[in-house]
Amino acid sequence: MTRIAIVEGDGIGHEVIPVAEAVLELLHPEYEYFAIDVGFHRWEQTGCPCADRDIEALKMADAILFGAVTTPPMKDYQSVVLRIRKALDLYANLRPVKGNGFDIIIVRENTEGLYSGIEETGHDRATTLRLVTRSGTERIVRKAIGLASRKNGTLTIGHKANVIKSDVFFRDICIAEAKAAGIPFNDRYIDALSLDLLQHPDRYSVVVTTNMFGDILSDVASYLVGGLGLVPSANIGERYALFEPVHGSAPDIAGKNIANPVAALRSAAMLLDHLGDRDAAVCIEEEIQHVISAGIRTRDLGGTAGTREFGDAVLTGLRKH
Ligand code: NAD
Ligand code: IPM
Ligand code: MN
Repeated sequence: MTRIAIVEGDGIGHEVIPVAEAVLELLHPEYEYFAIDVGFHRWEQTGCPCADRDIEALKMADAILFGAVTTPPMKDYQSVVLRIRKALDLYANLRPVKGNGFDIIIVRENTEGLYSGIEETGHDRATTLRLVTRSGTERIVRKAIGLASRKNGTLTIGHKANVIKSDVFFRDICIAEAKAAGIPFNDRYIDALSLDLLQHPDRYSVVVTTNMFGDILSDVASYLVGGLGLVPSANIGERYALFEPVHGSAPDIAGKNIANPVAALRSAAMLLDHLGDRDAAVCIEEEIQHVISAGIRTRDLGGTAGTREFGDAVLTGLRKH
């Protein structure tokens, strides 16, 4: 029995995830679906955003569909999504950005770098240690190399080695691995890369980078396809896998039925692909394209359709397949 954990989280997670879940249930009614309630709203209600037993329950799933959680900038608050990524060792964050004439996948290291959680805040200074390990770098670049060879593409290493020594380390390990694998590669400073990616997206295939650079670069790259409402992601480890939109809980539009559910739908497609049902993943993508071409669009794409209306159009189309 395939078990899927469903985590809506906070904000628009409550709107976009039901759309994506309905599609999963339509295509795979035989799977078992179970909900896990975590997020900032749980912290507000109970003082605990995510309990140990929630983590244990997530480990029971073959795959997790995740919405988004609000992570407020409070000193002692631990982000639920970061906790899950670490607890499940979801070291590879894959963020595909595909459009007319380009097919890019950002491969973001997901467990260390500036997100290592080694920090100290005093009265006069605060520090965050940027930990980059050999094993952490090797496993993320090997993942990126695997994707690049499957796509017959070039590996681009995004870094700031001109300033940050831990990025000299990261870049050199990436280059050594790319050479050993015989994969075409190049490397760019992350700032110049961010602009060049927008100006010449066709020049990129697989981009590997450290945790926070990958976070920023993926929001930037979403501009190529119409914004955050469209970009999905996979968080993959050796044992577990979690699929979520790149966007957050979007409190500014939450509860209004205007959020674009495409990023969540594409995350569900990535989940099915991961579980081996590539055909279903392709069907979801085709139906998204079909509905958008038919002029049914949410507000971020210049339309007037609501989240549910868009979802219903996709469901109706998929039922006809
Ligand atoms: P955000 O991604 O939530 O929103 C940024 C902007 O994009 C907002 O104007 C929002 O309305 C818009 N947007 C996002 N998703 C959209 C969609 N599906 N359809 C239409 N418009 C959409 O980022 P933010 O505002 O910086 O952060 C809000 C909260 O989400 C913060 O607490 C942040 O920490 C959290 N966050 C969580 C995750 C996650 O759980 N993986 C990811 C990013 C941000
Ligand atoms: C993302 C988000 C998270 C991150 C935040 C909410 C902790 O921005 O998934 O892109 O920085 O990874
Ligand atoms: Mn982000």
